[in-house]
Amino acid sequence: MGLKITVERSTSPKQKPDTSNLVFGKHFTDHMFIMDYDAGQGWHDPRIIPYQPISLDPAAKVFHYGQTVFEGMKAYKTPGGPVLLFRPFKNLQRLNRSNTRLSIPSIDEDLAMEALKQLIKIDEDWIPTDEGTSLYIRPFVISTQATLGVSPSEQYSFMIILSPVGSYYAEGINPVSIFVESEYVRAVAGGVGNAKTGGNYAAGLKAQEEASGKGYSQVLWLDGVHRKYIEEVGSMNVFFKIDGKVVTPALNGSILDGVTRDSVIQVLKHWNIEVEERKLSIDELVEAYRKGTLEEAFGTGTAAVISPIGELNWQGDKMTLNEGRTGPLSEKVYEFMTGLQKGVVEDPFGWVVKL
Ligand code: COI
Repeated sequence: MGLKITVERSTSPKQKPDTSNLVFGKHFTDHMFIMDYDAGQGWHDPRIIPYQPISLDPAAKVFHYGQTVFEGMKAYKTPGGPVLLFRPFKNLQRLNRSNTRLSIPSIDEDLAMEALKQLIKIDEDWIPTDEGTSLYIRPFVISTQATLGVSPSEQYSFMIILSPVGSYYAEGINPVSIFVESEYVRAVAGGVGNAKTGGNYAAGLKAQEEASGKGYSQVLWLDGVHRKYIEEVGSMNVFFKIDGKVVTPALNGSILDGVTRDSVIQVLKHWNIEVEERKLSIDELVEAYRKGTLEEAFGTGTAAVISPIGELNWQGDKMTLNEGRTGPLSEKVYEFMTGLQKGVVEDPFGWVVKL
């Protein structure tokens, strides 16, 4: 690891938000982590400093060419209990896979882990404990070199910010309605769909805005080539229970390799529930719905955790799942995953890391 993290404490702590009424990503804690990269020098000066705006040259590459990646993780705390992280190394490994895809230099995962631990310890009092709340962790890298040539930046900053959050969706744990997108596409294999980079989300905003205007929380993306295979939802991977089996789209290069996705697959298998990772077309889904074998559906993600899907709209036809209520499997997976993450359910997988 080698580098030592310096700490400058805030002298003017902020007022903490009302934790009984938290929305996603609006409030930030008193401190942040930052470390810089310069070609020839590598990553240097890892430091925890008071949370503050950053200053960048208007020509910084990130503004023009989107060379940036991010991660999402959560810390939980039960009253009086330790602070818990869920599979943090999986996220740091994925951060480096995204870095590689975006031609960003890798980050020492042990150093990033140490930075995370120290930062969370310093802002531990910000971790909310109300039902459905947690401390969302947002590590990210931006390219900072001030030049307009289209080439990998020679300078970067890696930062970690922390945000006490409630449910990602306004619906909370109640089922969300999803619009199946047929006009726009999010990503294609060979592109950056499986990297966690801002452009993927920017590419989805138009569709999300239109779906939201029709009363839907998010869109369900179909593949960009055949426009028929299910990929993922705006901020989640997606699972369907069809005729007793659970089906989720296989990782194909354009879908995000979700940490919650991977965990849910392992949990379902541990419960002896059959899981298929494969291509799943919208036609197969509609057919299953018509036959009455589409039993339930849910999304998985760090921010969303487990989010039941109550309705899918495909080309104007509404498919209501489990009468619009949370299905028994979605409920069971939600209870187990959130129980694991909060440390109230025994962890047979060794996934939970105590700070
Ligand atoms: C997460 O689940 O952490 C995500 O990154 C989704 C999001 C863009 C809020």
